[in-house]
Amino acid sequence: MPPFRIEGYVIVSGDGMLANADRVMPEGLKFEGDKQFFTAALDRAELIVHGRNSGEDQPNSPQRKRVILTRNVSAVAPDPSNPRATLWNPAGAPFEAACDHAGIHAGTIAIIGGPYVFDMFMDRYDTFWLSLAPLLFLPGGEPCFPGVPQHSPQDILAAHGLKPGPLQMLDPAADVSVTPWRRS
Ligand SMILES: NC(=O)c1ccc[n+]([C@@H]2O[C@H](COP(=O)([O-])OP(=O)(O)OC[C@H]3O[C@@H](n4cnc5c(N)ncnc54)[C@H](OP(=O)(O)O)[C@@H]3O)[C@@H](O)[C@H]2O)c1
Repeated sequence: MPPFRIEGYVIVSGDGMLANADRVMPEGLKFEGDKQFFTAALDRAELIVHGRNSGEDQPNSPQRKRVILTRNVSAVAPDPSNPRATLWNPAGAPFEAACDHAGIHAGTIAIIGGPYVFDMFMDRYDTFWLSLAPLLFLPGGEPCFPGVPQHSPQDILAAHGLKPGPLQMLDPAADVSVTPWRRS
C-alpha cells in the first residue's frame, strides 16, 4: 500500500446537508473562516479527489493536481480540459492506478466530495475534517454521506472507526466550527 495520508473535508448544515435541494452548495453554507481553513488544507495536499460537480473553485485550483471521478472513461485517462487532472472510473481501475497516472506516490490526499466519493473512502480516512454550520438547515437537501439524515454525519464517522478531536471555531458569529475525526 503506498504511503498516502487520506484526509476528508466537508462543511454541512445543521441537518447534515452539503448542498440544497437543487444539489447546489448555497451561499448560506459558505463562511470566510471555513474557506480559509479549506484553502490552506488544499494548498498542503499533494492531490485532490472529487466528483465531477465538486471542484473547489479557488484561485489556486489551476495549480493543484486532481483526480476526478466519472463514468465517462473506462478506467483512468487524462482530462483533455486540464493537464493537471486525471479522470478515473473506480469500476475500471483501483485508486492507486489513478494516483500513479497523476504522478503521486506518497503524501497527503484530500477527498472533497460529493457524497459518493466521501463514502468510497470511509474506511481509509486518517482524518476527516467535519465543518458544521449548526444554525443553517437545508430541508430536502443533499446529504453529505449515504445514511444521512437517518443517522448523523458524526454517527457515520464513528461507525467507521473515527473519533472526534478538539473542535476549532472558524466563525464564532455563525457558530461554525471544524472537528477532526481521526482513526485511532
Ligand atoms: N458542502 C461541501 O463541503 C461540499 C462538498 C462537496 C460537494 N458539495 C456540493 O455538493 C454538490 C455535488 O453533488 P453531487 O452529488 O453532484 O456530487 P459529485 O460527487 O461531485 O458528482 C457526482 C459525479 O461524480 C461522478 N460519479 C458518481 N458516482 C460515480 C461512480 N460510481 N463512478 C464514477 N463516477 C461517479 C459522476 O460523474 P459522471 O456523471 O461524469 O459519471 C457524477 O456526475 C455540489 O453542489 C457541490 O458544490 C458541497
